[in-house]
This record gives sequence, structure tokens and C-alpha cells, in this order.
Amino acid sequence: MPFIDPREHYRRIKGEIDFAITDTLAKGDLVLRQQLRDFEQHLADFVGVKYAIGVNSCYHALHFALLAAGVGPGDEVITVGHTFVATVSAIVHTGAKPVLVDVADDYNMAPDRFEAAVTPKTKAVIPVHLNGRVCDMDGISAVAKKHGLAIIEDAAQALGATFRNKRAGSFGLAGCFSFYPFKSLGGLGDGGAVTTDDPEVARFATLVRFNGEDRQTGEFHYHGYTALLDNVQAAVLDVKLRHLPEWIEHRRTIASLYRKGLEAIEELRLPHFSGSEYFDTYQNYVIRTECRDELREYLKANGVETLVHWRKPMWEHKDLALDNPRLSETESICREVISLPMSAETTPQHVEMTVGCIRDFFASRPTSLRTTVAS
Ligand SMILES: Cc1ncc(COP(=O)(O)O)c(C=O)c1O
Repeated sequence: MPFIDPREHYRRIKGEIDFAITDTLAKGDLVLRQQLRDFEQHLADFVGVKYAIGVNSCYHALHFALLAAGVGPGDEVITVGHTFVATVSAIVHTGAKPVLVDVADDYNMAPDRFEAAVTPKTKAVIPVHLNGRVCDMDGISAVAKKHGLAIIEDAAQALGATFRNKRAGSFGLAGCFSFYPFKSLGGLGDGGAVTTDDPEVARFATLVRFNGEDRQTGEFHYHGYTALLDNVQAAVLDVKLRHLPEWIEHRRTIASLYRKGLEAIEELRLPHFSGSEYFDTYQNYVIRTECRDELREYLKANGVETLVHWRKPMWEHKDLALDNPRLSETESICREVISLPMSAETTPQHVEMTVGCIRDFFASRPTSLRTTVAS
């Protein structure tokens, strides 16, 4: 069983996708055309903000949002140690220093740890809404407001997730999304977007993504980048955005089936966290156990593909030259987490098979090896 199944994903909506592509190509609409504008409008409406600007990755969305917030050399930007490297690379490429903090039980930024890391040099914070769960944005917004910091949301994994009925990407100065093919809203290749209510941020991202040029006047305002979301991509993403609410519901159903099947195994910690104010979308279904590596091998031997996000903390990649922030929670997470198959195409039968394997694995372990993860 593959972790995700792009062929089945395409097969299910082939007619709509094929039409979007051929229609765009037949019209010759390749760059900065109506399909992009339509998708941006629909995305902004979906997130609940005034503007969405299509770019070619979440990395670039983050980089542009930080630049728009005025982040540069001499500044510090706080984010979590448990995130994809792109979050931190975006900070590094502005010339600012990334300051990494540990996460809470739900793998997201803890407001108190964020506040403890604030210094006079702190300019912005990047809360990362990991695995389809929004951070505690009440706590994070309060700390950011108190210290006058810009909030740039890394919402790469959280399109459609909400906190107090507000969607990821609508809390901060800017929200940053990824349409990498395996995301909940996945394109044909790399893609991303900046969302914002701020017209200056929207204008900056719109210009800087395309060499800094104001297309109306032909004036170049910045040394920009070549980082557009292509029209064909936008046309396909627009089709998929219409399906996203049903796909999210499907993911939530699959998550609840995993929960039913696995909750009796005391060696596992499942990703069902407290708080009725959260609506989680399960970009990843991440379980946690001290015998992660053995479990993963067992699942592999039984035909179940899994992923690990991420195998070691970022600062252990020596060539990145990051200071070791000594984040014990992030370090244990890297040793203990495993992501189970989860997508719009995951079926109840897939869940049954995966759950069966996991149960067999734990049942076959001698009791003395059964270490309980403290909760
Ligand atoms: C949390 C997080 N931030 C940023 C990114 C970068 O997204 P992209 O690949 O679109 O640049 C990812 C991609 O996996 C991610 O998971």
C-alpha cells in the first residue's frame, strides 16, 4: 500500500483536470492570465483574506512575506525546531538569524516558549501549523502584539484547518501555503501562495515574484525573483480547490478510523489533541512510539509504506551550520514519529490493513520490550 497514490488521485478527477489543462493551453494562457487571477481570488475567499498571490513554492512565499515584513540582516526570527527546513532557509536567506524553539504536545509552537525566546532583535515569528493543525493563535498573537512582532504563518500543511473558526493563513501579516503535489491541495509540481489582508504585502509579493516589475507601468521596483505560479498550475489548482472541502472531510474520517483501531494500544500516542476550538485537517496522520524504527520496518515488510517527518533535527545537518538550540522535545519527536498512509484516496480498507499490522506488531513484542510513551 503506497503512502499516497497520485495515479488514483488523477484518475478520480481526470475529466476536470484534462479540461483545465487543454483549455488553458488552447487559449495560449501561460503566464499571468485569468486562470491565475481566478485561482488567487478563490483561494483568498477560501482562506478568508483579501489577497492571495500565487508563487512557485511555500519557500518563496515565506521568503517574500519575511522581506515584506522588513526582516533583514541583524534581525532575529523565531520559529520552531520541528519544521521542514524551508521554514528556516527562508529566514536565513533574508540575512536574519533563525531562533528555534521547542514545540508543545501537538507538535506546534508553544506561546510561552516563543515568548521566552524574544530579544530586542526579534522582528517576526513564524508559527508553523503542522500536520493540518493550527497553532494556539490566541497565545501566539498575544505575545507577538505585546512585543510588536510580525506574524508570518507557515501554513504549508494546513490549508482549510481552523482555530476558533478562522482559517490558517488569515491570522498574521501573511500566510504561506504549499501546493507541492503531496499536500492536501497539490499541484502538478511545485507551487505556493502568500495570503494577506495587507495591500502593501500583496503588492510587494506580486511584484517581487516576477522580477520586481510593475506590469502596468513597466517600472522595476525591486531586484526581484522569477517565482510565479504558472497559469496551467493555477487552472488545475482551481479545479482541485473545489474538491478540497470534501477531501478534508475524508481525511477526518480516515483519522477517526485510525483512532478507533489504534487507541487501545498503550505504546502509541495518537494525534487527537484536546480543544474544541480546533478543526484539524490531518495533512499527516502522525503516531508516536519509542519503538518507531522497528514498527516502520515491520510495516514495510508487510507492504505498508510510511514516512518520517523528520529523521533528525535540522541542526544535526552539519552543513546547514545552525546552532544547536538543545530542544529535547524536538529531538525525541524525530526519534519517535511515523506518518501513516493518509490522503483523499486512503480507503477504510487501507486503514484496516495498516491497523491490523500495527496491532500484530505490538502483540508480537515481548512485554519487557513494551515501553510506554509517557503522555
Ligand atoms: C511546514 C512546511 N513549510 C514549508 C514547506 C515548503 O514548501 P514548498 O516545498 O512548497 O517550498 C513545507 C513543505 O513540505 C512544509 O511542510
